[in-house]
Amino acid sequence: MNYNIAVIPGDGIGPEIIGEARKVLDKVGSVYGHDFLYKEVLMGGISIDTYGVPLTEEALETAKNSDSVLLGAVGGDVGNSKWYDVAPNLRPEAGLLSIRKGLNLFANIRPAYLYKELAAACPLKEEIIGDGFDMVIMRELTGGLYFGDRFTKEVDGVMTAVDTLSYNETEIRRIAIKAFEIAMKRKKQVISVDKANVLDSSRLWRKVVEEVAKDYPEVTLSHMLVDNCAMQLVMNPGQFDVILTENMFGDILSDEASMITGSIGMLSSASMNESKFGMYEPSHGSAPDIAGKNIANPIATILSAAMMLRYSFDLDEEAKAMEKAVEAVLQEGYRTGDIFSEGNIRVSTTEMGDLIAERISK
Ligand code: NAI
Ligand code: MG
Repeated sequence: MNYNIAVIPGDGIGPEIIGEARKVLDKVGSVYGHDFLYKEVLMGGISIDTYGVPLTEEALETAKNSDSVLLGAVGGDVGNSKWYDVAPNLRPEAGLLSIRKGLNLFANIRPAYLYKELAAACPLKEEIIGDGFDMVIMRELTGGLYFGDRFTKEVDGVMTAVDTLSYNETEIRRIAIKAFEIAMKRKKQVISVDKANVLDSSRLWRKVVEEVAKDYPEVTLSHMLVDNCAMQLVMNPGQFDVILTENMFGDILSDEASMITGSIGMLSSASMNESKFGMYEPSHGSAPDIAGKNIANPIATILSAAMMLRYSFDLDEEAKAMEKAVEAVLQEGYRTGDIFSEGNIRVSTTEMGDLIAERISK
């Protein structure tokens, strides 16, 4: 079978980690008899340098006409890059926001899982981690603060900047349904995270989530304020199964959760709409500080490609083979710098990709 994948390497470490994900996918293809056909698309800083805009119409069309999208990361050094001295809609990240919006990818699924081999890279004490850490953050991706009206202007002689956080019932309902569906396949527990003691949007969020919960009587729903959630994640991480939350809270909490897994270089993600179409990318950014050095961890991207096989192509066995290969390599002690501890074998980005690809088997 043929699968058409739009591949967006992006900026910084993007091309390096995407190269390794393709290497592993190609091995899966040869072992299982699939053809993964890639079409490269420019987005972010590299698209700005080439076309003057972070995402062209043609690029978006190519993505739309594919079976799925595999993305590295976009962006440069925010404090020190020519890409940022321009209007927000011309910056690299605008490409990311437009493609998410253009493909209506409202559901961002971010699993956070601590491999027992990485316990030493987890900053929490053993007694806090207990039986391990295995949760999913379901983050709303096309609404809220990142998509609200924004402007900067002088008000009464003082420069004032405004960002707005808005959600409607439809946006809340569809992400809540996704969260409950995922919870049904897991421990059947949803913690909805908001700031309902202050924000109107959070009060509506709570009301709609409660309504959706009625259709899932087997799932236990509770609510948690976001500041408390930030604390609970490091105090009692084992209590979480599925966190359901809005765009910015999910952005921040998933970075926090990622650290419990040892490194943000381990955290995969899927962004989906109501169909099987999805965009798969690591949760981290373009890491300009380590770009071009062949030291970035490609595992988050490889695990994102595994999610693509599972959610968009229904290739569950192949997805499992990829996850097992990652686990095997970790068991054998191979580590990129971000997850390295004493006694491990330090490997580069490309070596890690080779090792994982070699271990793909039926
Ligand atoms: P970042 O995630 O790129 O990096 C944070 C830290 O984690 C850095 O020290 C980096 O070296 C390290 N790191 C990230 N990925 C790694 C990997 N695979 N292996 C080893 N270490 C890794 O976040 P930062 O520095 O805040 O942002 C850098 C740029 O990336 C910015 O332009 C930002 O806007 C963009 N960004 C893009 C995203 C995307 O394309 N989806 C998501 C987040 C940030
Ligand atoms: Mg982020």
